[in-house]
Amino acid sequence: MLSFGDETPYIGPTKDAGAAVICQVQTLSQALSAHDNGADVIVAQGSEAGGHGAIRGTISLVREVVDRIDTIPVVAAGGIADGRGLAAALMLGAAGVLMGTRFCATQESLMPEQAKERALEASGDETLQSSIVDILRDKDWPGPYKLRTLQNDTLDQWHGREQQLVDEIDEQREAYEAAFAAHDFDHAAVIVGEATGMLRDIPAAGDVIEEIVAEAEACLARPPGCL
Ligand SMILES: Cc1cc2nc3c(=O)[nH]c(=O)nc-3n(C[C@H](O)[C@H](O)[C@H](O)COP(=O)(O)O)c2cc1C
Repeated sequence: MLSFGDETPYIGPTKDAGAAVICQVQTLSQALSAHDNGADVIVAQGSEAGGHGAIRGTISLVREVVDRIDTIPVVAAGGIADGRGLAAALMLGAAGVLMGTRFCATQESLMPEQAKERALEASGDETLQSSIVDILRDKDWPGPYKLRTLQNDTLDQWHGREQQLVDEIDEQREAYEAAFAAHDFDHAAVIVGEATGMLRDIPAAGDVIEEIVAEAEACLARPPGCL
């Protein structure tokens, strides 16, 4: 699965090795390029997503990509964490969904328990796309990609003051690494997206899938407008 950059050099060798290539894209033009270069599956990722992402919202991006690409499956990602979201994505013409945030709060997730609890407590209003955590982690992410995480004291202090952070990076990086090691999530990042507002429990991953599929089937069987 390739994402966040030019897929051209990687598709050939991946296919030569016998693997299918999934390209996660953030714009229509990237989707068309990935398709023309031989991707087997396109994931259209909207900016609601947890982790790195770009600018476009999921609904309009998925719809536009689906309308232009009908020879390979298009999967929706970003802000989907329940059966209603899956049903909505299918209605847009997607072949399925890719979820990250929902699986952060599962038994199998390696996210620290304190971080899972933070994700459960937060609403979708409380995430932010920012470069601050990448600067602190010494990850060089070019625009337009930013990292969506829960808002916390670190983002309150530094978001919008990126150059000042760079100027003080040695001291601030040490403090960030210490916070991360101590599971201090007032300062270390909890990487989730807007779907954090839909998390209520920490089930097994398999149960998440069964529940979401059942809910989507029920949604799709009902007349429009009925929950
Ligand atoms: C904790 C976390 C880590 C992620 N890491 C990656 C990654 O390494 N590579 C990648 O392509 N996408 C990564 N993503 C983004 C997912 O591929 C996906 O686009 C996103 O989770 C979908 O949106 P959602 O979080 O609303 O479900 C990550 C997402 C999360 C929540």
